Amino acid sequence: QIAAASGHTVVLVDQSDEILKKSTKGIEESLKRVTKKKFADKPEAGAEFIKTTLKNLTTSTDAASVVHSTDLVIEAIVENLEVKNELFKRLDKFASEHTIFASNTSSLQITKMANATTRQDRFGGLHFFNPVPVMKLVEVIRTPMTSQKTFESLVDFSKAVGKSPVSCKDTPGFIVNRLLVPYMMEAVRLFERGDASKEDIDVAMKLGAGYPMGPFELLDYVGLDTSKYIIDGWHSLEPNNPLFAPSPLLNKLVEEKKLGKKTGEGFYKYK
Ligand code: 3HC
Repeated sequence: QIAAASGHTVVLVDQSDEILKKSTKGIEESLKRVTKKKFADKPEAGAEFIKTTLKNLTTSTDAASVVHSTDLVIEAIVENLEVKNELFKRLDKFASEHTIFASNTSSLQITKMANATTRQDRFGGLHFFNPVPVMKLVEVIRTPMTSQKTFESLVDFSKAVGKSPVSCKDTPGFIVNRLLVPYMMEAVRLFERGDASKEDIDVAMKLGAGYPMGPFELLDYVGLDTSKYIIDGWHSLEPNNPLFAPSPLLNKLVEEKKLGKKTGEGFYKYK
């Protein structure tokens, strides 16, 4: 959405036409929200902005057949290293020599993905934040193999889509998630111990620390499955780090398919 809105030609790829239809509808809804604010007094210019943005956006279910004409690939699939590596390995065969690959992973090592390809110097991380049209930050991740030219291209792209980039090495969680995920897990542990209700913890962090959402609201917003993938991955890397300890309550909710807002229930219920 933000790439198309800033004049880039974008091909959105997913597994089925049904998912792509849903994604396109989501983008249209989001564009309406953005336009309402950006073009408050100019409805005609707003309608033109939506039209042009959607014109820049096409969809496909076959990444290999569209990747040859792209300058940049941003992967945002399931948070599973083997599946990501399989995709990158396949795309590497079909992409042009100059094409840069980037992952939007929340927690996995970019270096391991780069090593699945033959373009380690043209590989980095571009980590966006939910909701992407609103959150200003992008973390640009460089591995020891990322070239200076690739890094600069990723920074330039981040600026071109209207974001403020920060750079970080390829360490677990980069900057934001390395701080945010242990904080949210500490909130779950506080609740698990019965020290405070989840409602009070959320109110406390909103009114006492100025956060826009409390940790349980944010966990539901991000998705409990995504949060579990992150913490389980780090726990397997550092089993003795108490910040990365898994939570029985989080595991139970995920097992019950209560994944947060997207499934209608997580820590809270949504209509
Ligand atoms: N598309 C476009 N615009 C959107 C939007 C979307 N998906 N979601 C919200 N907005 C806009 C609204 O239209 C509204 O615009 P307005 O100011 O013109 O009215 C503005 O954003 C604020 O939205 P709301 O009034 O609906 O609600 P809030 O004021 O509560 O803001 C929020 C919503 C921006 C989500 C805010 O609650 C927030 O900042 N929450 C914290 C989000 C956060 O921490 N994100 C990071 C999660 S971690 C992550 O993503 C990393 C990953 O790896 C796990």
